[in-house]
Amino acid sequence: MQDVTVVDHPLVRHKLSLMRRKQTSTKSFRQMLKEIGGLICYEVTRDLPLADVEVETPLATIQAPVLAGKKLVFAPVLRSGMGMLEGMLELVPAARVAHVGLYRDPATLACVEYYFKAPTDLAERLVVVIDPMLATGNTAIAAADRLKEAGAKQIRMACLVAAPEGLSNFHGHHPDVRVWVAAIDQRLNEHGYILPGLGDAGDRMYGTK
Ligand code: URA
Repeated sequence: MQDVTVVDHPLVRHKLSLMRRKQTSTKSFRQMLKEIGGLICYEVTRDLPLADVEVETPLATIQAPVLAGKKLVFAPVLRSGMGMLEGMLELVPAARVAHVGLYRDPATLACVEYYFKAPTDLAERLVVVIDPMLATGNTAIAAADRLKEAGAKQIRMACLVAAPEGLSNFHGHHPDVRVWVAAIDQRLNEHGYILPGLGDAGDRMYGTK
């Protein structure tokens, strides 16, 4: 599929299988979502530009590479994006965070914005949207729309599980945004849930159902 990277590292596949199990506890689910967040972040940031700076080791002075340019922005879609964010911030602790509050109207599956707070200089930064479940794609589309409206020019998308329908919907609207995902599942059910999926990621990570 165009512009989608499936992060199929054995650790990611193993943890995702454990997360799918309906008997997995809230605590374990949250822990593994955080861990997979870090592993996916590793791939999303694989090609970040570097620039040499002078480094003095105890023995010599050398030119050594550090990340170049402005700090990244992680943009978790509330609520479930917060679970992956934690693991991503462990790897990139200086990243900025843009919170995007969107929920799906259960009747229409349309997106409703209830909160948005982002750094003012989005145009100068790489923005990584975090939305674990790319189901219909409508939430991810609305999040990318909103971030572009706020100035973002370079966006990437970090997900956990995607439905094929959601991916093609998303790329129809945002062909410039590459997606990283741990698995592409079979399809959506009539309620807009991913099959086989793992249920409602927000409910499972916060124990609200
Ligand atoms: N959101 C979820 O949390 N799970 C799905 O399967 C679809 C949307």
